[in-house]
Amino acid sequence: ENSQKGKETKLPIPPILKDTNPEEGKAEFDLTVQKGETEFFKDQKTDTLGYNGNYLGPIIKVNKGDEVKINVNNTLDESTTVHWHGLEVPAEMDGGPHQRIEPSSTWSPFFTINQPAATLWYHPHLLDKTGEQVYKGLAGLIYIEDENSSELDIPKDYGINDIPLVVQDKRFTKEGAIPYELNMRDTMDGFMGDTILINGAIGPELDVKNELVRLRILNGSNARSYDFNFSDKTKFYQIASDGGFLEKSVEMTNVILAPAERAEILVDFSEYKVGDKITFRDTENNLMTINIIEDSTKKADIPKKLVDMPKYDKDEIVRSREFVMSGSGPMVAINGKQMDMNRIDEELKVNELEEWVVSNESSGGMGMMSSSPHPFHVHGVQFQIIERNGDKPPLNEQGWKDTVMVKSNEKVKLLVNFREKGLFMYHCHILEHEDSGMMGQFTVE
Ligand code: C2O
Ligand code: CU
Ligand code: CU
Repeated sequence: ENSQKGKETKLPIPPILKDTNPEEGKAEFDLTVQKGETEFFKDQKTDTLGYNGNYLGPIIKVNKGDEVKINVNNTLDESTTVHWHGLEVPAEMDGGPHQRIEPSSTWSPFFTINQPAATLWYHPHLLDKTGEQVYKGLAGLIYIEDENSSELDIPKDYGINDIPLVVQDKRFTKEGAIPYELNMRDTMDGFMGDTILINGAIGPELDVKNELVRLRILNGSNARSYDFNFSDKTKFYQIASDGGFLEKSVEMTNVILAPAERAEILVDFSEYKVGDKITFRDTENNLMTINIIEDSTKKADIPKKLVDMPKYDKDEIVRSREFVMSGSGPMVAINGKQMDMNRIDEELKVNELEEWVVSNESSGGMGMMSSSPHPFHVHGVQFQIIERNGDKPPLNEQGWKDTVMVKSNEKVKLLVNFREKGLFMYHCHILEHEDSGMMGQFTVE
């Protein structure tokens, strides 16, 4: 364990990736997967990986309707893939384990953005190696904007009152290195670090005005879930989940995010004074200090209605499928099977509404009483959760989702309807479980 303190640092704000195609309605981006060195601690250099930089990646910002092309250049000496998590694109463009990018080569997927405004993300998805590559720093955010998101009266000044927060945990050696070495517990429950970073900084400070502030939070950790809140229990409003805006803002004092889940929240700092400090935390750790540094003249209004959320109709369900997650550690499985690149587990049809019943029968490791939660993720689609353990899901789970936490003995019902075709994956987003084979494949034709 590293006893040094993180260097005093402002919250790093990732750059927005330059669009190199000047044509209206089109966008082209260059993304380089590279090795880097990052100074997490003062005067200590850590070997890391990044996109267009030393650690993490830039924001890829696109508009609904855009024709997008992304040139991904792999300069590593190992293969990788880049998966657009939450994006609804044809399977060959999805960046899953079948779209390998070999060292010194470039992969150029192209697709049209055909879904509402949302905060998504991208990360590697190489078979059996996802955990290590993400852990070393390969992750970035995707912003989709649309008419609704630009008309809504919500904070939009990037880095000023619209702030990305990528939350991850690490385990540093004395030398400040982050070797990806799994101990017994990591093999069972997934990698858990002891130090929490936001945008690659340990305990950073964020300066804001006393106004409404929008935080776009991604749990980019390999395995850890967080229960986010503020030190003074201030209430906030969740306005978006994984796949975009919720129908209405949901008032809350804490938000739980499993690995890969996102939440956008609005926090009202208008009653605070210059000089006030608020700690953004989870139940166990202080994560970031928010400093009020200036008076704002803006009024802080929380919009109630955010978007028209089209609700799937249960009467239109064509088929029902079951996904039973079980086992622990290296034995984790879905429907009793582990990932096989040459096996198709499910066959679906495009534009058919299906009900997916996802349950967790893992009872934890080695006969102990430990629980084994599994965040279930589906590629190529945003789904709706209609039931959690027999009840309606909480309000903040009633919007578009691509990842859903399913704890031991829980059962959730999802409605899914694919618009894109090809070979996709579903898996547990605890990356060590995914890498152990807790993943299956399905075709949409
Ligand atoms: Cu974010 Cu298949 O994953
Ligand atoms: Cu995904
Ligand atoms: Cu799992």
